[in-house]
Amino acid sequence: MTASTMEELVSLCKRRGFIFQSNDIYGGVKGLYDFGPMGVELKNNLKQSWWKSIVYERDDVEGLDSSILTGREVLKHSGHEDTFSDPLIDCKSCKNRFREDQLKDHKCPFCKSKDLTNPRPFNLMFKTSIGPVDDGSSFVYLRPETAQQIFTNFKNVLDSTNKVIPFGIAQIGKAFRNEITPRNFIFRVREFEQLELEFFVLPGQDEKWHKYWIDQRYNWWINQGIDKNNLYLENVESSELSHYSKATVDILYNFPHGKEELEGIANRTDFDLGSHTKNQKDFKISSKVIENDKSTTKLAMQKLEDNSWYIPFVIEPSAGVERGVLALLNEAYKVDEKNSRTILALKPNLSPIKAALIPLKRNNEQIVNFAKKIKNKLQKLGLGRVVLENSGNIGKNYRRHDEIGTPICITVDFETLENNTVTVRDRDTMDQKRINESELNNFYKKYFE
Ligand code: GAP
Repeated sequence: MTASTMEELVSLCKRRGFIFQSNDIYGGVKGLYDFGPMGVELKNNLKQSWWKSIVYERDDVEGLDSSILTGREVLKHSGHEDTFSDPLIDCKSCKNRFREDQLKDHKCPFCKSKDLTNPRPFNLMFKTSIGPVDDGSSFVYLRPETAQQIFTNFKNVLDSTNKVIPFGIAQIGKAFRNEITPRNFIFRVREFEQLELEFFVLPGQDEKWHKYWIDQRYNWWINQGIDKNNLYLENVESSELSHYSKATVDILYNFPHGKEELEGIANRTDFDLGSHTKNQKDFKISSKVIENDKSTTKLAMQKLEDNSWYIPFVIEPSAGVERGVLALLNEAYKVDEKNSRTILALKPNLSPIKAALIPLKRNNEQIVNFAKKIKNKLQKLGLGRVVLENSGNIGKNYRRHDEIGTPICITVDFETLENNTVTVRDRDTMDQKRINESELNNFYKKYFE
């Protein structure tokens, strides 16, 4: 078994319908990707696994699905209008624009000219006009992180549920960034999804909860099948911290192109609720917030002991779905040279297809109907997608399902019609055994325990 290169992953993703370059038939648009039939299942499974562990398995977190288009006031007071930018340099000679950190020996990385502008901040947020008049005055942003609408909904969620501190609000959704140099396949893209939790805690208890969430999130990735030898925790240096953060620990992963951020866990202090609350002067806000005379809502809680109002602190674990998918694909990709096959050894709950039913003779009605009956029975168990493979030969089907990570293939043949037994083949061991159809439900369910 050997590890994968980025080229192998890109090729598998295209060949087997995981990920395609977006707008491909018109030459593609850089930094945008589409998830195909297998990709959408893998992505949904990863998101579901996160939602299950963050929302369903806890009693202190509620979910949210807020709008992507975000009004200007939100992203002004969050600090994104002023600070969410990269310093860019223009080459006066070849007219290319590049990030300051790409500059080598004071020369343009494209044409090596030294005729360059000074670095100028370039905001990474996408804007679009809203309403019938497109005169540039009425615009909204495509959110650069899902977090902000969690903060603006803080009181709505608090009033409509019975939460007491500490508690969290979780959201999965798209975020958009006009990255100057999208690269490394789906690692750095312009449209991506985030898994974000804003966990509200008492001021003074923030450091304890920060440690707690670093631990939780690190272990969660291991539970998804990531080898702990490929994961690293790194303290973000103070000069590199985002404008809202007091401390951030990144979970890095050994991607095929190098060790890079998979998830960040930030201590956002009282910056966000403090920035968006009305009557800021009524509170002791510890962070440096932009003055707010537009907010209509107090984003604060009352202490139980004396009913005094305070702004909660926030711990934020924030992961990218695309980076998660890339890490999972990289971990799962195995070349079995002995048997001349490639396998995606994904955990069964993450596999795009849970089981494939393969009728030995595709034009034998009895065999096909039997396979269909089993497919429907397993599908009803609700553990994910089960497919009927009524084309191609059995060897080709096995190879395809090994490559997309299907944990079991079930073959229906003439013997099935005589004694109700089917052949089940395990993806990882290639072991095959005959079992009675009546045992199949339990056999199948065991893969997901
Ligand atoms: N709300 C906090 C926040 O957005 P971030 O570190 O900028 O923090 C969080 O982003 C996560 O989102 C990152 O750890 C990464 O997994 C993912 N991410 C950020 N920018 C990305 C991009 N351009 N392409 C793909 N994923 C990205």
